Amino acid sequence: MVKNGSGPKNNKWMRRYRTFFLVGCVILCLQIYLAARFLALNRTVEPEENQWRPLNADNELEEAEANSAGRSKLFNPDDEDVAVKNKAYANQSHALKYDELEFTPPCQITTKEAVSAINRAKTQKCKQLISNVTCLSYANQLYPQELEGSCPAEGFTAGKELGCFKDEKNFRLLNGYFGVNKNENSPRFCMKLCLQSGFPYAGVEYSNECFCGADEPPSTSKIPDSSCNLKCPGDQHATCGGYYTVNIYQTGIKKFVPQIASTETSVGKNNSVKIVFLLTLNGRAVRQVKRLLKILYHKQHYYYIHVDIRQDYLYRELLVLEKQLPNVRLTRRRFATIWGGASLLEMLRSCMWELLNIGEWRWDFVLNLSESDFPVKTVAQLTRFLTANRDRNFVKSHGREVQRFIQKQGLDKTFVECETRMWRVGDRKLPYGIQVDGGSDWIALSRKFVRYVSDPAPDALIAGLLKVFRRTLLPAESFFHTALRNSKFCDSYVDNNLHVTNWKRKLGCKCQYKHVVDWCGCSPNDFRPEDWPRIQNTLSRQLYFARKFEPIVNQAVILQLELWLYGLEKPSRHVANLHGYWQSLFHYQDLGVPPDDALLTLGSSIARQATKMLLHSNSSSCDVGLGSLLQVHAYRYNDTNKYSLFHVETARGAAEVAVKFTSNVVVKKPSPLMELLGALYVSSEYDQKEMVSRNFPRILSPFSEPVLVYRFAMHRTAKAYNLTCLWISPDGRLHDIGEFTLDEASAAGHQKPALKQPILPGVWKAKLVYKHVMLAQVKFLIVPLATYSGKPITALQAAYANGGSRPSKDYAGVYENFTPDRFQAASMEKVCTANAKRQGKALDAWIDNMVARFYAVEKICATGVDGEVCGTKVQACVGTDWSSFAPDPKSAIGTVNETAGGFDIW
Ligand SMILES: *[C@@H]1O[C@H](CO)[C@@H](O)[C@H](O)[C@H]1NC(C)=O
Ligand SMILES: *[C@@H]1O[C@H](CO)[C@@H](O)[C@H](O)[C@H]1NC(C)=O
Ligand SMILES: *[C@@H]1O[C@H](CO)[C@@H](O)[C@H](O)[C@H]1NC(C)=O
Ligand SMILES: *[C@@H]1O[C@H](CO)[C@@H](O)[C@H](O)[C@H]1NC(C)=O
Ligand SMILES: *[C@@H]1O[C@H](CO)[C@@H](O)[C@H](O)[C@H]1NC(C)=O
Ligand SMILES: *[C@@H]1O[C@H](CO)[C@@H](O)[C@H](O)[C@H]1NC(C)=O
Ligand SMILES: *[C@@H]1O[C@H](CO)[C@@H](O)[C@H](O)[C@H]1NC(C)=O
Ligand SMILES: *[C@@H]1O[C@H](CO)[C@@H](O)[C@H](O)[C@H]1NC(C)=O
Repeated sequence: MVKNGSGPKNNKWMRRYRTFFLVGCVILCLQIYLAARFLALNRTVEPEENQWRPLNADNELEEAEANSAGRSKLFNPDDEDVAVKNKAYANQSHALKYDELEFTPPCQITTKEAVSAINRAKTQKCKQLISNVTCLSYANQLYPQELEGSCPAEGFTAGKELGCFKDEKNFRLLNGYFGVNKNENSPRFCMKLCLQSGFPYAGVEYSNECFCGADEPPSTSKIPDSSCNLKCPGDQHATCGGYYTVNIYQTGIKKFVPQIASTETSVGKNNSVKIVFLLTLNGRAVRQVKRLLKILYHKQHYYYIHVDIRQDYLYRELLVLEKQLPNVRLTRRRFATIWGGASLLEMLRSCMWELLNIGEWRWDFVLNLSESDFPVKTVAQLTRFLTANRDRNFVKSHGREVQRFIQKQGLDKTFVECETRMWRVGDRKLPYGIQVDGGSDWIALSRKFVRYVSDPAPDALIAGLLKVFRRTLLPAESFFHTALRNSKFCDSYVDNNLHVTNWKRKLGCKCQYKHVVDWCGCSPNDFRPEDWPRIQNTLSRQLYFARKFEPIVNQAVILQLELWLYGLEKPSRHVANLHGYWQSLFHYQDLGVPPDDALLTLGSSIARQATKMLLHSNSSSCDVGLGSLLQVHAYRYNDTNKYSLFHVETARGAAEVAVKFTSNVVVKKPSPLMELLGALYVSSEYDQKEMVSRNFPRILSPFSEPVLVYRFAMHRTAKAYNLTCLWISPDGRLHDIGEFTLDEASAAGHQKPALKQPILPGVWKAKLVYKHVMLAQVKFLIVPLATYSGKPITALQAAYANGGSRPSKDYAGVYENFTPDRFQAASMEKVCTANAKRQGKALDAWIDNMVARFYAVEKICATGVDGEVCGTKVQACVGTDWSSFAPDPKSAIGTVNETAGGFDIW
């Protein structure tokens, strides 16, 4: 009974127990599951899929350090606010405009970047090139997938397995680099990446993690292989570590250790190295080029010059040096080199190969310089240094994590160069099997390495790299580094580019190259006297050059540097015109530049003004016709704009005329803010990096883009002001209302109005308004055009160009206290309409009248030997202290001092 009775009872208890047990199990399982999930989360919370990041990244510090490395830094335009700045080219439209294509693309092009580039390109040739490259890239035929380096790696074998190791969360065995990839991770995948990043060891852990390291893991951490038991997402047959256990492999390269450069040693004359200074030049600063050449010159070295093919003036002016100095030559194979362009690498390799083939030139090093470099040590010191480091190669590495460098530099993007622009056409994968390196594009390379990289019949590694770098932004910043690291020359790598660079990120990273490249680039600043400590600091370091220098921005610092190099306090004798600087803006022989109609118009007006002054006592004529303008120079004295110099030809003698731009600023309301005013003017071509207008003669035409440039001496504690600028045309209309904030951080800058071209010629007003009170007014002249494309303007062209445009918006009623009333405006408009109909003498009279209000002729000299212009005797230009014909000893290439082997200072 009991038995019977207890039977069902017992069963019931058992059932209850079972339920409990099951519930308990479920709870326990749940807890284990949660715990596991939590731990898993804990491990992978930061890195997202396929996002790679450095392990111990103190990025800001790295960047600060890299700043001093002297390379162009880049940031991806898809980043942050830069994307906004780049809207102009990042058109989101996905569809290719087939109706604009006169060819059929070899494949269907769908990717956003390629479509955008093809749509934006203007010529069919460029559109076709981009299409061709894009299709090759779709078919994986553009780049080699894999390349093989030849840097010896004794004892390191690609793929050699070292076993399973115990890892620790706070003390990683491999601590160079870390990434997570949930789809592709495998030992092979991880090894490829680590090799690319320059690490000899790769480790896979927790299935989807990849670690790279430079140092061999200690054998004490080794554990049985069975502890590494997780499958790899990218390879079912391999194991990818486990929970804090890691499978470690060799990648096949040895640990990279750059060479330490030897210090300068004194050497005998006959075994000191001979250097080629490869000057790659652009612009018009011929006097600075000569000044640089003078200070670098020694008869034992060589000077090889590449002038951009578009810089006809500089090329012509320098060509004569070949006759004067036997070791100076200009290459005849010239390229159009744009910032960051692929043609830069082509140009460098071309020059290097030519250099190897100049039989008489026995050189040991090639050192790359531009017109904005200047030495901070003497050439004798440089020679001793390079002699002590014969056969080494000097490049500067980026000093940050490689994968990050690849992204920032855009090395993972394909770029195509055409229409003098670098078009971004899409993503790419760099070939595996080689270490990627890069940094500064200032280099000093040994002859052997130059021969290796510039050989027109290159080996497989260089040939493969060239395929990659042909489609790379800023190729010179990575090609030589990568070639050096992976070739048999890897043991000659010195991580020093001998340069100190004046980085000022805040100013230098304003995306200022977007007109030539689909990317945002940074550029170093010009040195000024306040940066002197930076130059002084190079004294005890292995640094031989500094950049950038631009005498048109600041020449005082160049003089200071020259005196320092020669160990002088001040010039030891009188040097004529030491503080003067002349830079050519126009030369009538210039080829390949479209005529600047405003400059031609102004030039002939100035010539008329000048001849009128010379003819005061004589009523006979002294014609100045079209084509009377020979040259224009910007003349600065002691780093301030002094004159624009117009070299003009009259019917009776040629003259140079010094013209002063008269400022037309009127402070209307004295106020605490106006007391802080440093500069206020309207100009164009404002350079945000140097904070100067590069329109030195301040000439504005109907086709200019005027801006208001301001500089205030804002105190640290000064309050912020929101200012308004009203842009009022000669016919009394309000064309734009510009607003800007003035505070300590933005005390100098510019305000760019939206003015429609052609801009109505005549006298404009820019009114500076604060809280409905006008503080100041700037008058500026839009010069009417007397020529169009270099020829006398026709009635039809004048009606268009000199007739101006209406405001793009109707501001009637807004700020009406600041604009003329209806009746005044009506009569002003009538005058403007009549002016647009002027031709010939009537047009000239109108132009002369206005030009005289803004540009005053201050001085005239005669360029001819007889000192006569228009029958009047004037001072000879060579005898003045302002003319571009006046002596300029600091830039004059005279005779070489045979004892010293170089030029004497001035
Ligand atoms: C983008 O493309 C469309 C049509 O293709 C064009 O109308 C528009 O102006 C473009 N936008 C920019 C910012 O270039
Ligand atoms: C593009 O490819 C086609 C076909 O191969 C070729 O005929 C054409 O010359 C190429 N165009 C450019 C600009 O590379
Ligand atoms: C320099 O060259 C001369 C002759 O050419 C030789 O006598 C002398 O030993 C050389 N000196 C050194 C340091 O090589
Ligand atoms: C050489 O100098 C030019 C500047 O003139 C620079 O842009 C270029 O990248 C340099 N290249 C190398 C490899 O030094
Ligand atoms: C140049 O200008 C500075 C002030 O800007 C002045 O101190 C200096 O004496 C001037 N130098 C010469 C040579 O005129
Ligand atoms: C200036 O204008 C900005 C918005 O445009 C505003 O946020 C700011 O408060 C203003 N500052 C002052 C001092 O009025
Ligand atoms: C200028 O006038 C003087 C007399 O006043 C005359 O002798 C001279 O020939 C004139 N010059 C020219 C070039 O006509
Ligand atoms: C040429 O150089 C030597 C050695 O530096 C120097 O003593 C001499 O004065 C220089 N000659 C001239 C004309 O300056």
